[in-house]
Amino acid sequence: MGFQVTIEPSGHHFENQEGETLLESALRSGIAIAYHCSSGSCGECYGRLLEGKLGDRKFHDYRFTEQQKGDGAFLLCRNRAASDLVISANELDDPSSIPLQNIETKVYKIDEANGEYLILQLRTPRSRTLQFFAGQTVKLSIPGVDSYSIAVASCPCNGMFLQFHINRNHPHPLVRQLIEKGKGIGNIVVEGPFGEHTLNVQYERPLIFIAKDSEFGAIKSLIEQVINLELPQPVRLFWIASDDEHHYMENYCRSWCEQLDDYHFRGIKQEKGEAIEDMLEKICATLDPSGVDYSQSDTYIAAPFQDLYRMQAWWKSHAESQNIYLMTENRDRYANKTDS
Ligand code: FES
Repeated sequence: MGFQVTIEPSGHHFENQEGETLLESALRSGIAIAYHCSSGSCGECYGRLLEGKLGDRKFHDYRFTEQQKGDGAFLLCRNRAASDLVISANELDDPSSIPLQNIETKVYKIDEANGEYLILQLRTPRSRTLQFFAGQTVKLSIPGVDSYSIAVASCPCNGMFLQFHINRNHPHPLVRQLIEKGKGIGNIVVEGPFGEHTLNVQYERPLIFIAKDSEFGAIKSLIEQVINLELPQPVRLFWIASDDEHHYMENYCRSWCEQLDDYHFRGIKQEKGEAIEDMLEKICATLDPSGVDYSQSDTYIAAPFQDLYRMQAWWKSHAESQNIYLMTENRDRYANKTDS
């Protein structure tokens, strides 16, 4: 049983569980706190104690002034709660407030998914985790080849283990080397994050997510963030795939119904010759009207470049909702032209 921590002025709250620092608990709960080193050197994660009692703090190099100490300043990455707390902290609310990072990572795991996809998991150093918002992309690079732009498919609540969904037939040289060498590819540098469209948590509007093929990765990150933040609104997920193999995480999508109160998932197969617009028409016809006002919804679309703007145009002229976010818009042309 942990202690409840409330952050002012946002009112966001999280549980500080045993064995976790306040920073770890906040990030695990999906709250974007400014931080850098996670080890008490940079001072980025400073907060102020407004109510309650902190536990024993770990040693840190960063020095507060006497005035800051008098104001109750402390580092979230070095402290735990010893009672329920009210604190102030530097929360990030906008992707542009996250600095560009360059982190050397190791390949932690490569899993096959339905024969067509690789689920790549990279591990950052413990003291240099990646800070990002759900739905953002990064560039992966190894010496001697162009960088590969891809959406992070995992939740920002764990910046140390980063997941990516890769079509194993993708011609990018980095993907080819990954297929050939596996873990032997060596260290991979992650640069990012990029992308301005992230989850809009300001309003409790119904959320519609539409993914196409392996661009599902960006949507997965967003939905895991919805779960972590315990957002109450209805969630509808549609995953269009040009082959059955391309629904490579269908069971995982179904399992979200245990964590989300009002959630529907539908995998849609795109037959040969069927236009992407026909798929969207099917989606619109499937949206259940039971008490949900879809005119007030936010629609997030993640699709390969060749489909993305057609999907946006169709949705804009046919669907009720006009709040549309294109999650894969900022991926570089090379990746978008060849990914499918
Ligand atoms: S993140 Fe650097 S001091 Fe806490």
